[in-house]
Amino acid sequence: MNEADAGTTPIRPLVAGNWKMNGLKAALSEALAVDEALAEAGQAVGADVMICPPATMVMVLSELSGKGGLQVGGQDCHANSSGAHTGDVAPEMLADAGAIAVIVGHSERRADHGETDRIVHEKVLAAHRAGLTAIVCVGETIGQRQAGLTLDVVARQLSGSIPDGVTAENVIVAYEPVWAIGTGLTPGTDDVEQVHGMIREHLSGRFGEEGRRIRILYGGSVKPSNAVELMGITNVNGALVGGASLMAKDFLGIVEAYRG
Ligand code: PGA
Repeated sequence: MNEADAGTTPIRPLVAGNWKMNGLKAALSEALAVDEALAEAGQAVGADVMICPPATMVMVLSELSGKGGLQVGGQDCHANSSGAHTGDVAPEMLADAGAIAVIVGHSERRADHGETDRIVHEKVLAAHRAGLTAIVCVGETIGQRQAGLTLDVVARQLSGSIPDGVTAENVIVAYEPVWAIGTGLTPGTDDVEQVHGMIREHLSGRFGEEGRRIRILYGGSVKPSNAVELMGITNVNGALVGGASLMAKDFLGIVEAYRG
């Protein structure tokens, strides 16, 4: 929460871990350690905390966690609810396995699987059909940033990826500069503030009061050492964390930024 949010309903931040294609059974203990720590901290943690493990682990993590309120999400979904799509996961399946949210449009999906804004838009609708919150990722490449196109690129991704009529409960936006993901590089605080400010304007312009309450996460090389600074930026309502979410100690070090 921060001053930009004052005057409207306070926004409860979210710290979400994206495990990507990492996590065998043995890694469950890391996620459960996060849940345990949340249970011990109780109300002292002023944020929701989520882990998005690989699809193979969504059900077991949902069943074993929850004591501390740890939320579970998926990393991607197909737009259809069932059918001949070998290897894909329907949002209904993620919901059935205990997920409450799903990441869509991550830059790795956009790059590795050619996902366009149109496809991401369909996936957001599919997530909503299944009752899941869609965590919609946007962000510019280094070339686009150097060409001064960051705001244009992100605005286009928002318009193309987010359907009309969404709410603060069923959509979360994650701004993840592609060049900051997994590199240890982060944008300056002014740059983050500028992009998040534009995203907030876009959301409130399109969705009114709901748009003022939609959570906007920052993602890209968030770690315990930079979390307080990044989470303190106006209109940053939490983090989407990759590498540093794999170990409970690191992930909890980021959650610590929201300890009252
Ligand atoms: P990172 O990944 O924290 O490892 O940079 C973030 C993401 O891709 O969601």
